[in-house]
Amino acid sequence: MKRSLIIGNWKLNPLTLLQARNLASSISHVSKHEVVLCPPSLYLSEIEFPHKGAQDCFWQLKGPYTGQLSAAQLKDLKVEYCLVGHSERRSLGETDDMVAGKIAALVDQQVTPVLCIGFGTTVGEDDLEVTDVLRHQLDSALKDIDAGLVVVAYEPVWAIGSGKPATPEHAEKIALFIKTKFNVKRVLYGGSVNSVNAKEFLQQNDIDGLLVGSSSLLPEEFNKIIS
Ligand code: PGA
Repeated sequence: MKRSLIIGNWKLNPLTLLQARNLASSISHVSKHEVVLCPPSLYLSEIEFPHKGAQDCFWQLKGPYTGQLSAAQLKDLKVEYCLVGHSERRSLGETDDMVAGKIAALVDQQVTPVLCIGFGTTVGEDDLEVTDVLRHQLDSALKDIDAGLVVVAYEPVWAIGSGKPATPEHAEKIALFIKTKFNVKRVLYGGSVNSVNAKEFLQQNDIDGLLVGSSSLLPEEFNKIIS
């Protein structure tokens, strides 16, 4: 099997630094895949793990922006990846323009953006309807950017946290569409990935890795996925 990129998105978990350290230390470093942990940002410099990612950042580098986190600060902490445009952020009002600004700031600082797309897709849509939504998100996020520098994660919103993943065949079709139409080099699948279905997704030709939410909080489960 090819070397894949497997990202654990902890979201707003866990509640203490001790739990965060314990969780990070229980995830195996030894994998043929590249494994990245995305803890809440205040734990980024507090946990030990070879590859780390942030869950969000701001489009300005510095200045009077209370509560924001800059791509330059991520770079300084040697954070290699940053999620952008996750559907849970888009549902709080993040627009395509904000997503584009964040991607530009990250590329500028050589932090790899992981652009999450799929918000707006609904269960039962056919592939053509899905690609219409994705085309719009990709067009606006990748304008003026070398798409080869961006990892794209396809996450149908109905599959996130629902226990109902997309089929590997559907995910593969969408991954191929993203690569051929937008010159993207790496596409991940996310949405209810677990230790039972991970392998099937990774076996698809155009799926280069996984974005894992709930299962990344369960060490035994996540270790099975990355092994
Ligand atoms: P899930 O979340 O694995 O819990 O479905 C995925 C994500 O939100 O990135």
